[in-house]
Amino acid sequence: MITGKILGTGSYVPPRVMDNDDMARIVDTNDEWIRERTGIGRRHIAENETTSYMATRAALRAIEQSGIAPEEIEMVIVATSSSETIYPCAACEVQREIKAENAVGYDLNGACTGFVLAFNTAQAYISAGLYRTILVIGAESMSHMVNWTDRSTCILFGDGAGAVVLRAQEGEPVRMAAHSDGEKGPALKGLSRHRKDWDCKDSDKDAYIRMDGQGVFKFAVRKVPEIIEEILEQSDVSLEDIEYFILHQANRRIIEAVAKRLKTDISRFPMNLEEYANTSAATVPILLDEMNRKGMFKRGQKLMMAGFGAGLTWAGCLFEW
Ligand code: UT7
Repeated sequence: MITGKILGTGSYVPPRVMDNDDMARIVDTNDEWIRERTGIGRRHIAENETTSYMATRAALRAIEQSGIAPEEIEMVIVATSSSETIYPCAACEVQREIKAENAVGYDLNGACTGFVLAFNTAQAYISAGLYRTILVIGAESMSHMVNWTDRSTCILFGDGAGAVVLRAQEGEPVRMAAHSDGEKGPALKGLSRHRKDWDCKDSDKDAYIRMDGQGVFKFAVRKVPEIIEEILEQSDVSLEDIEYFILHQANRRIIEAVAKRLKTDISRFPMNLEEYANTSAATVPILLDEMNRKGMFKRGQKLMMAGFGAGLTWAGCLFEW
């Protein structure tokens, strides 16, 4: 069976860091509350870096590790919901910057689920024999989206990008599933303002990310284990065969609750949200890149990725490294 193997990974986060004490200088919060309720310690915040700039930096690292030439890339998909421009899309900006002159590029807005949806889309093209080499990126400037006077949301998010290069090879098919529940869409709404409005007025608040935190929390804790089980049912792979569960990094307590529901040891659920917070579509590929560069993956290992977020949407996939 033809499947998309990961040839290389890359990531980029802006150098500017805001820790929880910095957040406490902006809104009425403190390090203890943020760590206890979310597991977040710091977040990287873009200053002049745009979404497409961060996507390009991550892509160049993934391409370098892959050992391929940019001209070999046939498709660039950028999962983002916070690009500075609606068009040209971020993927076309990346295509130009990395000189992937033979590639078609487009963006995919799946919010925090975006990277997993884009990865699955790329896998579908590859297994259908339509494309051989696809660059998949998750990139977000969440700091442009949040209301910096709303302590219940602004402390949660960060900026960054992660990328993978997929190449058609013989291998086990990727198993995947994805769902939406548009009825529950109002639980998490966002409108990009593309500026850091530290002094936004109360009347502006609807224009930023608005979230029913507990509603999204409960949804994630229920739907992520469900979709993991749904994907496993399609295969002859069992929960015990999975080396790592690479989940969207929104909240440490969500990941712990998923591990508990699946009766699986938390050590198989790597986390890096203490350093980066929730970078939406970028969390999964940033984590994948960190683990890869630490040498945590071996060929043939079975990995599960899962994302969830606005829409509401949730998606997952099981693949072999
Ligand atoms: O990618 C998907 C994106 N979304 C998510 O993943 C969100 C999922 N939800 C969550 O992660 C959690 O619901 C939050 C971290 C957002 C909130 O945690 P919580 O345990 O559900 O807290 P809460 O909303 O029930 O608020 C508890 C209290 C409230 O005060 P009162 O009413 O009990 O006096 C809040 O006003 O905590 C207060 N609070 C804060 N206190 C200090 C809310 N935000 C803060 C804050 N610092 N930053």
